[in-house]
Amino acid sequence: MEEIIAEIKRLKKQTNTLILAHYYMSPEIQVLEKEGGIADHLGDSLALSVAASRSEATNIIFCGVRFMAETAKILNPHSRVFIPDMEAGCSLAESITAADVIQLRKQHPGAPVIAYINTYAETKAECDIICTSRNALAIAASFKEDTLIFVPDVFMGNNLRKSIQEATGKKLILWDGRCEVHEQFRSAEMSLMQAAYPEAELLMHWEVPDATVDSAFKQQKGVLGSTSDIISYVGKSNSKQFILASECDLGAVLKSTYRDREFITPCIRCPHMKRITLQNTLEVLRKLEKGSPISEEIDLDHDLMDRARIPLERMLTFS
Ligand code: 13P
Ligand code: SF4
Repeated sequence: MEEIIAEIKRLKKQTNTLILAHYYMSPEIQVLEKEGGIADHLGDSLALSVAASRSEATNIIFCGVRFMAETAKILNPHSRVFIPDMEAGCSLAESITAADVIQLRKQHPGAPVIAYINTYAETKAECDIICTSRNALAIAASFKEDTLIFVPDVFMGNNLRKSIQEATGKKLILWDGRCEVHEQFRSAEMSLMQAAYPEAELLMHWEVPDATVDSAFKQQKGVLGSTSDIISYVGKSNSKQFILASECDLGAVLKSTYRDREFITPCIRCPHMKRITLQNTLEVLRKLEKGSPISEEIDLDHDLMDRARIPLERMLTFS
């Protein structure tokens, strides 16, 4: 591993390449270059989008999933953007198309469409604004219309619905998309863990089914939020023990950030995120060095990028 890391670092420098790594990467990819690893930034989808938009590097390698690499390209069309495995998808992004959004608009005339960032460029281009789990609530509250369409995560939509209705009185129309990782957190298994660790606090992602969230918070306290909300909550809490209901390798980030705390991580991994390895990251850099064709490059139509950038830039005004 050390040899691969050293070679990645050498080639990054030689090719002026920035490496962005999502919190759900395997631990060996999470480590920042200044701490001996390969990543220039480690973050959630919002932080990495912002880092991509500000980058002046010639190339960006996105160690994450394809909708994130697409977002980086749309926000920074002058850089070449690569994802080490084009098959790194997302069940949420795949659950909805541009045609579905057009149809929803016909069914609910006048209702603005808020899309979660976990969507592909064609879908984003049909929406009014994009959100991430960090800014969804503020974005929903900013619309004057009484009915809003939120796509594609039905569980996040249901979890948000209560807060949005309480804060704004608005009605949310949802789509039936699901995260194949977070939907696996079910009430029965959560209850067993909660019974085994009664002192622990809960760390739950918005994408966990609302039925699980509701029953879990009846027994224990904690946070329901985005990946970044989860990380910052631990820093503010006095608890020593936490149950994590999110992607397994976020547990590695938490364990290395808070070494004095204990994290109970059921360990459900996102198969798409795990397609990205040190080896396939190195292969992209080797092709860049040689100037050979790179099939892992994000290549989007300019008109499509221009249309998808509008709702993304609207989101960035909230960040
Ligand atoms: P974040 O927006 O919290 O990075 O989440 C992205 C994701 O894919 C969650 O499953
Ligand atoms: Fe998509 Fe879920 Fe994987 Fe996140 S964890 S990339 S939402 S499948």
